[in-house]
Amino acid sequence: MRAITFYEYGPPSLLRLEERPDPVPGPGQVRVRVRACSMNAADWHILRADPFLARLAVGLFKPRYNVLGCDLAGVVDAVGPGVTRFKAGDAVMGELGSSGWGAFAERVCAPEGVLALKPANIGFDEAAAAPLAGVTAVQGLRREGCLKPGERVLINGASGGVGTYAVQVAKVLGAEVVAVCSPRNVEQVRSLGADQVIDYTQTDFTQSDARYDLILAVNGYHPLSHYKRVLAPGGRFLMTGGAGRQMAAAVLLGPLHSLLSGKRLGYVTMKSNLEDLEFLRDCLGDGRVRSVIDRTFPLDKVPEALAYLEEGHARGKVVIQVALPSEGRAEATRGEPSA
Ligand SMILES: NC(=O)c1ccc[n+]([C@@H]2O[C@H](COP(=O)([O-])OP(=O)(O)OC[C@H]3O[C@@H](n4cnc5c(N)ncnc54)[C@H](OP(=O)(O)O)[C@@H]3O)[C@@H](O)[C@H]2O)c1
Repeated sequence: MRAITFYEYGPPSLLRLEERPDPVPGPGQVRVRVRACSMNAADWHILRADPFLARLAVGLFKPRYNVLGCDLAGVVDAVGPGVTRFKAGDAVMGELGSSGWGAFAERVCAPEGVLALKPANIGFDEAAAAPLAGVTAVQGLRREGCLKPGERVLINGASGGVGTYAVQVAKVLGAEVVAVCSPRNVEQVRSLGADQVIDYTQTDFTQSDARYDLILAVNGYHPLSHYKRVLAPGGRFLMTGGAGRQMAAAVLLGPLHSLLSGKRLGYVTMKSNLEDLEFLRDCLGDGRVRSVIDRTFPLDKVPEALAYLEEGHARGKVVIQVALPSEGRAEATRGEPSA
């Protein structure tokens, strides 16, 4: 099979298209013929070992995993001993961040517990776009943010991978949604259901009189004290991403701010969770949530796709379509915006 490999930390130009033996599923694993996978910031953070501390998790001197990619959708083509939930031919979607990565390939083995059946009415591209970004949104808003119907939530950084799912999931949860993005994305974010859209080039929401029950900070930077100022009494601020200094502040100073204010400020790390994945899958299946796909690339263009994502201005998700050479598909879409 073909896979995109790397053996040392560095820029996307180190990635190579390589022939590898097909993996064999072990106990409790299935092998998925990957039809599409998607890019996440985590891929380039690991590729570059940036921040340096990432090496503690993925290999101090050399990467522990040689094939990146955690989001995938595809078809089960082999099952290992003890597998009960899937059989060959099932279309599945899932996230491999806690189970060895490897989705930038034609085939990958995964524990059955990190996969869910793909809704029949969405394509492989849409399904592969969703797991990591969508589950991050679900966990930030529902599991950790405890967002209730009627509450007012602000999503800072609403136009990227996580943000586009967060706007929609917040609406599913019955919240009033205020979304922050740049002017070029205002219409798209509004079309996802945001009740109000703030253009961050015109308005600093932390200086307004509006108050929020929950702020999900996905991208961008404001000092923690500014976020705290615009939280309603008992409000929650949860950060999932953004500038490094913002993350450090949320992790280190969040608990202190929480102690003294009666509000909750902190950082959320996405954890693989089948219940959250299935909730997201059901929302995709019944149309309450849709994947916003910025661009699609073929497997051999993963380096270009990763470099594009790293620029930090993707509108929704960047998806890799994985065709077998024998399928004769013309790999014509090379970084073009999706229709
Ligand atoms: N904690 C976790 O477990 C977890 C999980 C997933 C992701 N993350 C992190 O979350 C962050 C976002 O991930 P992502 O997948 O959404 O990234 P992404 O898709 O690369 O985000 C790109 C989007 O961010 C917007 N953006 C850039 N600067 C902004 C600013 N100053 N204010 C508001 N929006 C801004 C861009 O729009 P414009 O170009 O129009 O500004 C673009 O639409 C990353 O730092 C990632 O590492 C963390």
